[in-house]
Amino acid sequence: MEFKTPGQHKRVEDFAAHWKLIAPELGCDLELEGGSGPLGQAFELPGRTIGNRWAIHPMEGWDGTPDGLPSENTLRRWQRFGMSGAKLIWGGEAVAVSADGRANPNQLYLNPKADSAAGLALLRETLLSAHVSSGMETKDLYIGLQLTHSGRFARPGAAGPQPRIAYRHPVLDARVGVDSDAALLSDAELDDLIELYVAGARAAASAGYDFVDVKCCHGYLLHELLGAKTRGGPYGGSFENRTRFFRRTVSAIRAECPGLDVVVRVSIGDLHPFSPGAEHRGEPLGWREHLPYRFGFGVSEEDPREIDLGESIEFLRMLSDHDIRLVNLTLGSPYYNPHLQRPAAYPPSDGYQPPEDPLHQVAEHIRVVRQCRSAVPELAYVGTGYTYLQEWLPNVAQHEVGAGHVDFVGLGRMVLSYPDLPRDVLSGERIARKKVCRTFSDCTTGPRNGLPSGCYPLDEHYKKTPDAKTLKQIKEQPG
Ligand SMILES: Cc1cc2nc3c(=O)[nH]c(=O)nc-3n(C[C@H](O)[C@H](O)[C@H](O)COP(=O)(O)O)c2cc1C
Repeated sequence: MEFKTPGQHKRVEDFAAHWKLIAPELGCDLELEGGSGPLGQAFELPGRTIGNRWAIHPMEGWDGTPDGLPSENTLRRWQRFGMSGAKLIWGGEAVAVSADGRANPNQLYLNPKADSAAGLALLRETLLSAHVSSGMETKDLYIGLQLTHSGRFARPGAAGPQPRIAYRHPVLDARVGVDSDAALLSDAELDDLIELYVAGARAAASAGYDFVDVKCCHGYLLHELLGAKTRGGPYGGSFENRTRFFRRTVSAIRAECPGLDVVVRVSIGDLHPFSPGAEHRGEPLGWREHLPYRFGFGVSEEDPREIDLGESIEFLRMLSDHDIRLVNLTLGSPYYNPHLQRPAAYPPSDGYQPPEDPLHQVAEHIRVVRQCRSAVPELAYVGTGYTYLQEWLPNVAQHEVGAGHVDFVGLGRMVLSYPDLPRDVLSGERIARKKVCRTFSDCTTGPRNGLPSGCYPLDEHYKKTPDAKTLKQIKEQPG
């Protein structure tokens, strides 16, 4: 490793100097202000108060039952989300709207043969009661459910990938075993899928959720549709067509569930897929062969090694025009550019060594949110990609919220190892360094190898399991 990780800095001043070298225009507060500072301030949405500026990102655990219902481990994760102190619970985790839309056989899904709404209600109640038993009130808690179809990355059973794609991709097709048009979803199949999203929203509403996230990120189906420039018909080609499925889905949900808010988590920028290159470092290999690059959303057509926010900003304006008030911005995909999607010091087993100091990608997330927020200030924004900041996460988070660059700071991997970080920060406690996520990526390597996710290095609950031993053996294998 040729870079110093944030955890190797013992003093915030040293980290701030490193951060300044990476991103001179970004900042880091040297003093934390606790609950009276920016992170403790309530946020007003029309008709709704959210108690503070911490969000919990959706984090699935590959640990649902074969019927698509929550297991003990799923409930434990949501219980920890509830005791975190964060007041915005963005989706809990991705719940597939159909069995064939699951990204793995253990993903939660809307199963017409099981009582999915009861399972979703139990998750929400578990979260609420953990919040109350940790001494917090619930009236300023805003809880949603993330609805998904995994599209290209569908893997619903033991048989392996069963991709359903929006368009043929020159690099990703081979990665998921697509060699013909048979995997393409037809327009009629997409039309039918809208009803499944509505059924998912109905289940969320009946289980008491405040909102649903019509997920458009990380390479899954609705994200892929946003980039379906080479597709013909009503769902491909022009920006208008590529956003049609999303718009129709949102309208249909609203018509059926008038009391339910609709929000979106979107990969607002993207890059050409990366592969291991020299010394197993990630590189966007072969990008020149595919110019002009018409295979994604938020990626430059001239140089797909660069994010292009032109259409992304158009998309955000469209959200505002459609009365969507809250967005969660993320970048890329954990399948084809994980260094961007979840910056880490140590790659997952199907990844590659970081191409550069991962703080560059954290900075990219923060910059993109700043640009989007200043272009479309009517929306409220949740930022992503903060976990790699490690013990200095609260300092950067406080800076961004305090300066008005972002409205909420979301926690992904950090919440698996250190669920009560928001509470500690708000009550002015010192950060518990032993609980800080060091981005070993075991929470991704586990599921990539058929194991449940969880923080194997730091969470005793996972550390002691036979799965932890299996994971260790997998990581010791050469190659
Ligand atoms: C184990 C694991 C599960 C995840 N599950 C989801 C999910 O269900 N939905 C989603 O939108 N993102 C999911 N993500 C991505 C995270 O929400 C988040 O974007 C990512 O970890 C980067 O944020 P961080 O730097 O705080 O970890 C997952 C990430 C991990 C590591």
